[in-house]
Amino acid sequence: MKTIRINLSANSYNIYIDRGLLEKVGDTLVKEKTPCKTLLITDKNIEKVYGNIVSESLQRNKFDVRLVSIKPGEEQKTLETALTLYDACFDHKLDRNSLIVALGGGVVGDISGFVAATFMRGVPFVQVPTSLLAQVDSSIGGKVAVNHTRGKNMIGSFYQPKAVFIDADTLSTLPAIELVVGLVEVIKYGVIKDAELFEYLEKHLYDVLQLDREALLKIIATSCQIKAKVVEEDEKEKHLRAILNYGHTIGHAIEAVTNYKKYRHGEAVAIGMIYAAGIAIEMGLTNNAVLERQRSLIKRLGLSLKTGLKPENIVKTLYADKKVIAGRLRFILPVKIGEVVISDHVTEEILYRVLSKPL
Ligand code: GLY
Repeated sequence: MKTIRINLSANSYNIYIDRGLLEKVGDTLVKEKTPCKTLLITDKNIEKVYGNIVSESLQRNKFDVRLVSIKPGEEQKTLETALTLYDACFDHKLDRNSLIVALGGGVVGDISGFVAATFMRGVPFVQVPTSLLAQVDSSIGGKVAVNHTRGKNMIGSFYQPKAVFIDADTLSTLPAIELVVGLVEVIKYGVIKDAELFEYLEKHLYDVLQLDREALLKIIATSCQIKAKVVEEDEKEKHLRAILNYGHTIGHAIEAVTNYKKYRHGEAVAIGMIYAAGIAIEMGLTNNAVLERQRSLIKRLGLSLKTGLKPENIVKTLYADKKVIAGRLRFILPVKIGEVVISDHVTEEILYRVLSKPL
């Protein structure tokens, strides 16, 4: 088992990464936390495959578990669903020393974390992410939220988990497209911080897509390591953490313009990364090869880079994002593979120029 420590003084925690880890969640957790009332939150799909494994692992170690399942899907990530989860917290008589365990993808992790952060002003919680996207990104770093009709993740907080358990074997039951969109975030880590990881993907993408265990463990661990380091330096996104949003500025706008129906998050981020690279070229910060290497990896994932969206619609939506600071757009722009800069100086003129060109 690989353990990555994320050092955040009183909020520090371990990320455990291995195969076959789901059945060991209880055995590992009991070394850190006295058995207690535990609400295991999952969704109806994940419950069928992994609910019992995790529940039994916790029960074997004397945790008093109640399992509650929400319906799957991003549209469930609402305050209404959170209310039903608070009811489950009351029904199972959780107190401030109890535990909430999130078993599932990003939706389950985000809403469970939000409930944990707010029920009785905070209950300890643990993440057991089962999608690649959640394993390399959303389960780590403490961003928890629900959606509002006026924007995704607009109601939320920073609330760190007590531990994260990543079982690479869960990726074998993940739909292929979910693996692909998770890989977009892994490519992102390569671009922002790690040229070696990027090269590894260029060389071993086939192995990763074939679910080669060694390749999966390597990319997951490397991604978590990068995210852990960034979050350690800037937990609340005052500055550096923004680099994790590479590709997300335009990506979020594309998702929003299409009402979150046409693109998965990762698909939109892939397009956003190529536009960001295009902006960096326009501004003389980088060269064409940096864009082409990303385009080539994304194409090999089978993702389309066509949007057919009007530049003015994307630009208008960009300004509604929560990353807009004092009316200025913040972009993460690549300098070379493995290095990005944070820029508040992308003009509308540059934006229109880049967004008007075919990708
Ligand atoms: N997904 C970006 C962050 O956690 O900051």
